[in-house]
Amino acid sequence: MPQRKLFVTTALPYANGKFHIGHIMEYIQADIWVRVQRMQGHMVHFVGADDAHGAPIMIAAEKAGKTPQQFVADIAAGRREYLEGFHIRFDNWHSTDSGENTELAQGIYRQLKANGMIATRVIEQFYDPVKGMFLPDRYIKGECPTCHAKDQYGDSCEVCSSVYAPTDLIQPYSTLTGAAPELRSSEHFFFRLSDPQVLAFLKDWTQTPGRLQPEMAKKASEWFDAGMADWDISREAPYFGIEIPDAPGKYFYVWLDAPIGYLASLKNHFDKGQARAHWHAPSRTDASFEQFVADPQVEQVHFIGKDIVYFHTLFWPALLQFSGRKTPSQVNVHGFITVSGEKMSKSRGTGIDPLKYLSLGMNPEWLRYYIAAKLNGRVEDVDFNPDDFVARVNADLVGKYVNIASRAAKFIPEGRLVAGDTTGAQPQRLVDSVAQLYEAREYGKALREIMAYADEVNLRFDAAAPWKLAKEGRGDDAAAVCSACIEDFKVLTACLKPVLPTLAAQAEAFLRCEPLDFSNAATPLGADHAIGQYKHLMQRVDPKLLDALFEPPAEAAPVAQVPGGEPLAPTIGIDDFSKIDLRIAKIVACEPVEGSTKLLRLTLDVGEGRTRNVFSGIASAYKPEDLQGKLTVVVANLAPRKMKFGVSEGMVLAASHADEKAQPGIFVLEPTVGAQPGMRVR
Ligand code: 2FM
Ligand code: ZN
Repeated sequence: MPQRKLFVTTALPYANGKFHIGHIMEYIQADIWVRVQRMQGHMVHFVGADDAHGAPIMIAAEKAGKTPQQFVADIAAGRREYLEGFHIRFDNWHSTDSGENTELAQGIYRQLKANGMIATRVIEQFYDPVKGMFLPDRYIKGECPTCHAKDQYGDSCEVCSSVYAPTDLIQPYSTLTGAAPELRSSEHFFFRLSDPQVLAFLKDWTQTPGRLQPEMAKKASEWFDAGMADWDISREAPYFGIEIPDAPGKYFYVWLDAPIGYLASLKNHFDKGQARAHWHAPSRTDASFEQFVADPQVEQVHFIGKDIVYFHTLFWPALLQFSGRKTPSQVNVHGFITVSGEKMSKSRGTGIDPLKYLSLGMNPEWLRYYIAAKLNGRVEDVDFNPDDFVARVNADLVGKYVNIASRAAKFIPEGRLVAGDTTGAQPQRLVDSVAQLYEAREYGKALREIMAYADEVNLRFDAAAPWKLAKEGRGDDAAAVCSACIEDFKVLTACLKPVLPTLAAQAEAFLRCEPLDFSNAATPLGADHAIGQYKHLMQRVDPKLLDALFEPPAEAAPVAQVPGGEPLAPTIGIDDFSKIDLRIAKIVACEPVEGSTKLLRLTLDVGEGRTRNVFSGIASAYKPEDLQGKLTVVVANLAPRKMKFGVSEGMVLAASHADEKAQPGIFVLEPTVGAQPGMRVR
């Protein structure tokens, strides 16, 4: 086969959290595929990056008291531990918040615009007047217009599952400040997906055999039948993202620049000069990044999860096509990983913490093997079952594969192989079939074929009973049988190598053979080849490790590290503190606010000879009569804020946990007996 030139990516993870087992599964799937390609002599650039932009990251950074740049850099610093830990070998890891991505995204946008693919339209959206920003749907809650359940998100109701626009919510509020959002209009940029040219292109692109899995091609045609709307690609400042050229205060929506990050990481890789190291054909080392991505022979292959198919099979190819670039060759979609049948949350992950797995000393290749054994080429969920994990790894890897070497090595004097009887073994057939199955991402089938072959070898070993032969003085016969087994062990090692790279390296050292690939896998080591001394290659999984892995973390520890569910704000000096004028206030009156479920209206006496009007988002925790007559603490020099229901002249202090769901409740501060209205709190 001529050498393939491949550009392979995995989905770029949001830089607002650590990797969870779902990420690791995807990276293992892609890493195996890449290793398979390289074992066939193909050239691959395999890159990843952090998906750094968007409102959630901007808000998370603010909460953590960091700049978004610092916030994403801190997340990025933690990536290596996971990737190295699980032998996931990206050639480059970059960020969408980078010079390369800015340049590429702006360039692609300019091309789209020049090609008439950008439309502008004024739209109305909710705006948080307190925060001073337009609110993404996820930050708007309110009462479901259908079933009237309270505190439902802006797009759909968790109680009755109805779907609606945030503007349909009854008494909407901003989850960032509690303020009632206002409708404001602004000009947005749209990618004209509804253009007939785009539709015609996408119909052809998605239905071209080999590009998408059949179930995904089918899904795409359902989407076409439902009709394609133009795609809103702009967001208003403040936003952490890439500025839109010639449109001050406007940024690309994160999903516009995220996939462009694939190209940015590849460009960064080329610019670092590392791209050459993986290029097998020396004559081509001078290709530039732009030449490479435009090269019709280069295959661009994406591995993604089933939740982001729309972006990768419609938006992304259309963006590339209509900005005059080459489109992806393949988008490979996998399902989710469940643990003992339970779905995991995208933000919280599952019961398996990949770093805990490693810190318990669990072998990363057990997980690689188990996940591979469960994967196929379709969009199916993969279940991690602890008992199955122990059984499979122990039975297959230790009981079948490693067992061959450990038993056979004993009967080969001085490790010198003799001509063996290989009747029945068809190594080349195995290698060819396994290579094909890996190519089609049918890893489970590939591993089953490999294990069936290992079974045959073990059966032959048992039938020949070399231990008996040795006792009967037929040592040469025993050595012949066992030499054949070692030859088969070598074939099996090559076949398992994409999944178990370090185990294969140890096995190669034991076999004293060249690095194995698919072309030399079935070539016998031959008589007289001397193998090394057998050292145990893999431990069995102790089921107790799985118990430890799933043991919930001790309660106290995380609370102690992150008080109240959020890290401490950056240190300030006493001067900063003294700028905040805190006073004792008496709640002389307290009443509900018509039109708001969140707010109470407080009338406060702060010892000024007048009263103040303050709105406080504590209606979920207190009835008005609970508070009337009580003392509390108020920020007395906060600039008055105009809210929908009137002006608020200060802020009452109240405590709450960062994760309202985990630890509900709001607690208004109250001084001990004796404090008088107007006293300063210092
Ligand atoms: O869903 C996600 O986690 C996104 N960060 C994936 C982006 S993939 C690519 F487009 F960058
Ligand atoms: Zn509802």
